[in-house]
Amino acid sequence: MLFSEEVASWSQRDDIEHKLTVDKCPESEFWEGNIGVITTLIPEVDFDPVKTYAVVCGPPVMYKYVIQELKKRNLPDDHITISLERRMRCGEGKCGHCQINQIYVCKDGPVFNYADIKDVPEAL
Ligand code: FES
Repeated sequence: MLFSEEVASWSQRDDIEHKLTVDKCPESEFWEGNIGVITTLIPEVDFDPVKTYAVVCGPPVMYKYVIQELKKRNLPDDHITISLERRMRCGEGKCGHCQINQIYVCKDGPVFNYADIKDVPEAL
């Protein structure tokens, strides 16, 4: 696990509630957290959508499902931040390798507000 010391330190804090999950755990491995995709944890989290912001990063295939769950909980579009992944080459908006319609992921992102990209075809 990356940043395992930081994750462990969150357990000591009263102002952070964190939940860990893995999609599956082989019988030969030991795992104390939840087993299941990340969307299985969202219903367990108590939050006020007006005061809550979500930051979503990970495999792009999960974005659609995470956003669906967040929208079920009435999280406003502009309270969702997403990191888009695209193969990049020049990294400065010249080659078009990372281009998604009018967006250059290298230059305009890679972190975007969901409200700004939700209607961009092929962004998600
Ligand atoms: S990597 Fe070349 S335009 Fe983004």
